[in-house]
Amino acid sequence: LFARPFLFTKGCVSIKDLPEPDRLEIAFAGRSNVGKSSLINALCGTSGLARTSNTPGRTQELNIFESQSEPLRIVDMPGYGYAKAPEPKVKAWTKLVHQYLTGRATLRRVYVLVDSRHGPKDNDLSVMNELDRAAVSYQVVLTKVDKPSATELEKVIALTKQAIAKRPAAHPDVIETSSEKNLGLGHLRSEIALLLAS
Ligand code: GTP
Ligand code: MG
Repeated sequence: LFARPFLFTKGCVSIKDLPEPDRLEIAFAGRSNVGKSSLINALCGTSGLARTSNTPGRTQELNIFESQSEPLRIVDMPGYGYAKAPEPKVKAWTKLVHQYLTGRATLRRVYVLVDSRHGPKDNDLSVMNELDRAAVSYQVVLTKVDKPSATELEKVIALTKQAIAKRPAAHPDVIETSSEKNLGLGHLRSEIALLLAS
């Protein structure tokens, strides 16, 4: 699936800028700085494909990545929550994210990234509520599992499973990842391969 490189094809500041809905899409959502862009890079095996930063609010557009060999589009998104950017800008991209998440016919699954040190926060739960309402399939991915201790991580996994247990559009499995240590990428890749096969 990731044998051939994914390349950046487009940055979209408006729904009108999106490419034709001619292939399956997966999107990465989550709070600012949770590690969305880093995970896309790790997944695709290309550092610097999606731009990352220590400063929350790095990704400000819907960034589209495509491969010549796969009928799959990967969408990196601006984060929600605190961002170091002017308020009108944050408002505009928040609206764009919500429009995309709930109104894109080709969006096959959203990976909702949650920091493994904190577990789901209120704004993560709101996004899950919205995806449940719109009947858009999603799966929770814990990020930065290299950071918490084993006991902390176990706690957060239990909390996360509890938070998704009764949610109609949530995948029951939680994927544990570290882009830094290349953990859980095989699991994530196989979930994506299943989507393509189904
Ligand atoms: P926005 O675009 O601002 O919403 O952020 P983002 O969710 O795309 O996060 P990004 O990938 O830019 O990463 C944010 C910071 O977290 C960067 O400093 C990364 O190096 C760091 N980071 C990402 N993944 C990991 C990880 O698995 N482990 C550790 N320790 N740090 C990580
Ligand atoms: Mg980003």
